[in-house]
Amino acid sequence: MIFDVITLFPEVFRTYFKQSLIKKACKKKVLKINILDLRDFSSDKHKTVDDKPFGGGRGMVLKLEPIYKAVRSLRKQKRKTKVIFFTPRGKKFNQKMATKFAKLDRLILISGRYEGVDERVAKYIADEKISIGDYVLMGGDLPALTVIETVARLIPGVIGKSELLKQRITKKKGFIEYPQYTRPEVFEPQKGARWRVPKVLLSGDHKKIEQWREKHSRIIE
Ligand code: ADE
Repeated sequence: MIFDVITLFPEVFRTYFKQSLIKKACKKKVLKINILDLRDFSSDKHKTVDDKPFGGGRGMVLKLEPIYKAVRSLRKQKRKTKVIFFTPRGKKFNQKMATKFAKLDRLILISGRYEGVDERVAKYIADEKISIGDYVLMGGDLPALTVIETVARLIPGVIGKSELLKQRITKKKGFIEYPQYTRPEVFEPQKGARWRVPKVLLSGDHKKIEQWREKHSRIIE
């Protein structure tokens, strides 16, 4: 799976991917992450990527052409590819969407910044407009990282056994998330306070443990 990220802050991504399972997956060639600096696609020597909004108003707007050129530089192969543009006006991202994306060969992620992005990016370039929640961030970099992490962990070889495979084995529709504990069995943060691990998990009774986990799990579809 290839992730291409078009951003004004390539360092944010480089730093993040330097220290994660994603780096390992890239080394194993399970994933490829290609970070494109939007300024490299500007057509003037000042590397301008933004301009004043038509109709007036506050702030600057990211221009269409550099984004168009960056995407065009990638869209040569006929693979299963989607171009994703991040905006708080987009469709809300969820696990189901991530599962669909994990079946593609390539995701091109466009991260906007500043006060806005020329709307023609959303209209003509993007296949999907995605929001990661009902709040406004300063740009699409955190949303892009969120999507990469969520999709990457579904790909076989990224976090050991593929989550997709696990899902098939358990025949559950979603992903099972239940509370986990490790040593110590009892933690005493101060005198009189005892934070304990649920007894059933120490019992060695696998059937009971499974029932407990089922009861406390949340299925994320
Ligand atoms: N850009 C700014 N806020 C965003 C959000 N919540 N989701 C996706 N892109 C964004």
